[in-house]
Amino acid sequence: MRLDETWKYLSPTKIVFGVHAFESLKKYVLELNIPKKILLVTGLSSMRRFGYVDVCKRMLYDKSLYIFDQIKPNPTVDDLQQAIQFLKASEAELVISLGGGSVLDAGKILAAMATNHEPLEDYLSGKKSLENKPLPFIAIPTTSGTASEVTCWATLWDMEQKKKFSLSHPWMFPDYAIIDPQLTVHMPPQTTAVTGLDAMTHAIESCWSKSSQPISDAFALHAIRLIRKNITTAYNEPDNLEARTNMSLASLFAGLAFNNTKTAACHSISYPMTIHFDIPHGLAVSITLKEVIQFNNQAIPQKIQQIVEAFDSDSLESFVKDMPKLMQSIGLPIRLRDLDLKESDLETIVQESVNPDRMKNNPVELSYKDISQILTNIY
Ligand SMILES: [Fe+2]
Repeated sequence: MRLDETWKYLSPTKIVFGVHAFESLKKYVLELNIPKKILLVTGLSSMRRFGYVDVCKRMLYDKSLYIFDQIKPNPTVDDLQQAIQFLKASEAELVISLGGGSVLDAGKILAAMATNHEPLEDYLSGKKSLENKPLPFIAIPTTSGTASEVTCWATLWDMEQKKKFSLSHPWMFPDYAIIDPQLTVHMPPQTTAVTGLDAMTHAIESCWSKSSQPISDAFALHAIRLIRKNITTAYNEPDNLEARTNMSLASLFAGLAFNNTKTAACHSISYPMTIHFDIPHGLAVSITLKEVIQFNNQAIPQKIQQIVEAFDSDSLESFVKDMPKLMQSIGLPIRLRDLDLKESDLETIVQESVNPDRMKNNPVELSYKDISQILTNIY
């Protein structure tokens, strides 16, 4: 850090972390002083199947609990419209999300739309900004990757128009993040792999972003170490609570880093991969890490050295080999050709790969030619 640099750090969400922390949900609902009506948001079926919806019902037996369990992965604007109607009819005073990143993002949007005038599209397009504080919101993640429980952003998708929307506002930080590693043991290995690599990419990109600062760096570097040491065990032994706890911690630390710095080039390049070719987010962001790090090394070699060391590689050259090896060890492809992409598809990704907000945050601003080279190298 330069001596003349000023930085600030903000993270207003109250964090409750621990195995069985979920079972204290009632305590935090009471702290929020909610009179009666609560909306519980979950995904399609798994939370019911594992009995967690029943646990919520039992804990909140003296409240009116309305359950919306129709949130799909990568939710669309239409999906949210349906949820908004349900929310308005319930007259809920608190929103609780229990699920993966999509469920958490949906809950944030619902809490905001409960107190602000529709239509949702006006906020997504940037035509309007939130005028009223959202309803209180409690986020309970069941994956360890997006860290939506400690960020103020929510993502929606329009798969027909091939667009990604983001809604963000400092009011959208959850009031509470209740992180219980026990809830993550049901994650299938493929989800463990891609969400874990999403967290790894949050940490690495936060560290090399132009807006990095000492607090975010401390969180990010520790997250890289924890994921490197634990992701393979979490993938191979889903019930290993120590590995799950370390992955939950790592995802949280990465979130506490990038909620202040935002992400950079790898996230920017990933969006068209997901929109056009359905590549899971965590894979789409991490598959370019080994290429982007070589560009960024030209501008910030000392910072890259810290990332390489946290990843437990001997040198940048080793990192470039070690990262794909780690991905392969958890069942992920490392080449775009293995994802059913044709070489002619690369141009579609290149054309939509510059998300100005993300790309400007990268220490080296990549040109379309650079991005084309990156994608060709990993084809
Ligand atoms: Fe991400």
